[in-house]
Amino acid sequence: MSSPPYILGIESSCDETACALVDRQGAVKVNAVASQVDLHARFGGVVPEVAARRHIETCLPLITEALRESQTDWSEISAIAVTQGPGLIGCLLIGVETAKALAWRHDKPLIAVHHLQAHLHAPFLRPEKPEQTHLLIEDGKDFSAIPFDDGEREFAGGAPAPRRIARPEFPHVGLIVSGGHTSLVWVESPGKCATLASTRDDAVGEAYDKVARILGIGFPGGPAVDQRAPLGNPNHFLFKTPMSHPDADGFSFSGLKSAVARRVEELKSGIPNPQSLPEGTIRDLCAGFQAAAIEALLSKSLTAAEERDTNDLLIVGGVASNRGLRRSARKIGPRGLRVWFPHFSLCTDNAAMIAGLAWHIKPLSGDEALNLNPSASLPLD
Ligand code: KG4
Ligand code: ZN
Repeated sequence: MSSPPYILGIESSCDETACALVDRQGAVKVNAVASQVDLHARFGGVVPEVAARRHIETCLPLITEALRESQTDWSEISAIAVTQGPGLIGCLLIGVETAKALAWRHDKPLIAVHHLQAHLHAPFLRPEKPEQTHLLIEDGKDFSAIPFDDGEREFAGGAPAPRRIARPEFPHVGLIVSGGHTSLVWVESPGKCATLASTRDDAVGEAYDKVARILGIGFPGGPAVDQRAPLGNPNHFLFKTPMSHPDADGFSFSGLKSAVARRVEELKSGIPNPQSLPEGTIRDLCAGFQAAAIEALLSKSLTAAEERDTNDLLIVGGVASNRGLRRSARKIGPRGLRVWFPHFSLCTDNAAMIAGLAWHIKPLSGDEALNLNPSASLPLD
């Protein structure tokens, strides 16, 4: 008898409670995300204790509702996968304990998944809806990529770019850019990677969030900055690209954020109403900050891809949603390099990436499963 078709994934490492159903090929049947953005917006950042309490309220109802809406029976689920780390410990704990309880209650194997390895798996998934495709940039041109075609799906309403059935090859270079992490990694196979470089201080998403807070344009900062940057002049306020020297190891975004903060202070001291800067100035600051951040990310990624002689560069995590980053990747890709961005629904935290990668990981058995503990700083390699 063949095994049930889906793995149920659970993700709760930060401020998104998420569950998903993904089949063995990586086709996403359900990708449910309950975001806590509104809850944390008034604090200008994620408050760990508040986030954990919301996970408690949301986790089980979200799963129950997802199974009910998708008419999925427990008999169709072969295993339960959960984010073990890294992340906020109180938040991880809720997902892990929920997964353990469900695995025990429904007699299913439990699979522990590394959150960052899962982000790297996003481009291998077939998103829920036919019009949701990954972005593949090859020789400066855009393609709407899906990793495989099972012959059942048609694009609704036409694709924005030519459709390509394609997936990245192993080994490849991955750039993980999120609110908590900025790492360049060498990926040998699903879930097996080695870190090449990391941030020395702030993650790039964290820098976006802090810059947005300094400018008073909302939380999360990434989308707020991303929206304004194309409307501003990136050359009006020039910020130095961090760690731009070819010998400089790793990334750094805290200095760039401080440079924006200092500029804002100077600008405010010269205007009658220092509470708010003119919208045009805010746009120029966003454009200048974003240009420097993107240059830092892409130059190191391209060097790593060239040095390692790989054809594929994957850019994943919340900041991979950034439209400026996607635009810039078109301009500077050397010939032959394919740059991949997951569909937006799979960039920010989600459980589909957890369930998808879980198909490649050995399940825990018996006591191992019941003794699983979350880890706030689970190492990547
Ligand atoms: O991967 P993610 O959902 O959570 C973590 O694992 O951290 O990433 C969240 C981060 C936040 O810092 C958010 O500001 C950033 O991703 N982000 C963006 C954009 N959308 C989300 N940053 C830049 N541009 C965006 N469009
Ligand atoms: Zn994440």
